[in-house]
Amino acid sequence: MQEFTINGATGSSKIILDNIPDCLPDLLPGADVFVITDDQVKSHWGHFFPNAPVYVMKAGERSKTIDTATDICRWLTKVGADRSSFILGFGGGVVCDMTGFVASVYMRGVSFGYVPTSLLAQIDAAIGGKTGINLDGFKNMIGTFRQPKFVLIDPQTLNTLPDIEYRNGLAEAVKHCLIADKSMFNMLMEHIPDILAKKTNLIRQLIERSVRVKVDIVNRDELEAGERRKLNLGHTWGHAVEKTDTIPHGQAVSIGLAFAAKLSEQRGMLKKTQRQDIIRLLQLLGLPTETNTPAALIYDAIQKDKKKEDDKIHFVFIKEIGSVEVIPITMKELTKGFI
Ligand code: GLY
Repeated sequence: MQEFTINGATGSSKIILDNIPDCLPDLLPGADVFVITDDQVKSHWGHFFPNAPVYVMKAGERSKTIDTATDICRWLTKVGADRSSFILGFGGGVVCDMTGFVASVYMRGVSFGYVPTSLLAQIDAAIGGKTGINLDGFKNMIGTFRQPKFVLIDPQTLNTLPDIEYRNGLAEAVKHCLIADKSMFNMLMEHIPDILAKKTNLIRQLIERSVRVKVDIVNRDELEAGERRKLNLGHTWGHAVEKTDTIPHGQAVSIGLAFAAKLSEQRGMLKKTQRQDIIRLLQLLGLPTETNTPAALIYDAIQKDKKKEDDKIHFVFIKEIGSVEVIPITMKELTKGFI
């Protein structure tokens, strides 16, 4: 068992890497638990759910709407959830984001925890207390900061994850390598076939190291006043590509990481050889690094990005593998990356 802690203004969170049947019962209160999940996760992992009422969402990003949140709140009222209840989100990034959002607004906030079942949720979405739902196709436009009481990560849930979803999670792992863990980058590069084959010891290492990168940053800057912006590496461009191309988040992040590497090289911050290594790793992991969407459409989507302030974007540049810097740039400077 491996354990990490986040101590934040919005609560404390225990992140535990262990197996579900041994740990979950001890983490949950004895009564008044309500589960939120999706149809796919329920069919694979429903036998691990506690004996409690279950709300089943339709799997996929399209469910991450205010309508679903409202529907869940109505359901909670109907099944008798009150301020002392506990909500468990059991599923991937969409389920975790939705559970955290609903739990932080229902009756002005009830306790919650997560069992993340996708790699993306285990190393990113479930960690750090950001919750969110989409608005008119724009990612996480409505949301809160609130720490889950616990995040229980069991790598065995990855066994039923479709390969494409698993690779989407690997994009966030590459992001963490670029931000703060060069030796994990080298480890990934050296073990591509085993990583793609989900070899248990490597997956555990990958999850542990990724979680450590994120936990360390969130502990220093929970509310994203500064350093946490580093975790948005690849996301300015990535979110815009995700919206315009309607591709999965991890693929869009991969394209966003490649774009950040290009802009960093153009600015003289990143060596060409390192940019090439980054692109090679993403491609070897089966992730896209380019989009065919016209730059003007992506530019338009970035204009509406919630992270834009006045005409400036806090863009995350890569200085070298394992080190990044956040620099406010204008939209005009950003367009240099189109060329
Ligand atoms: N996914 C970026 C963050 O949690 O800050």
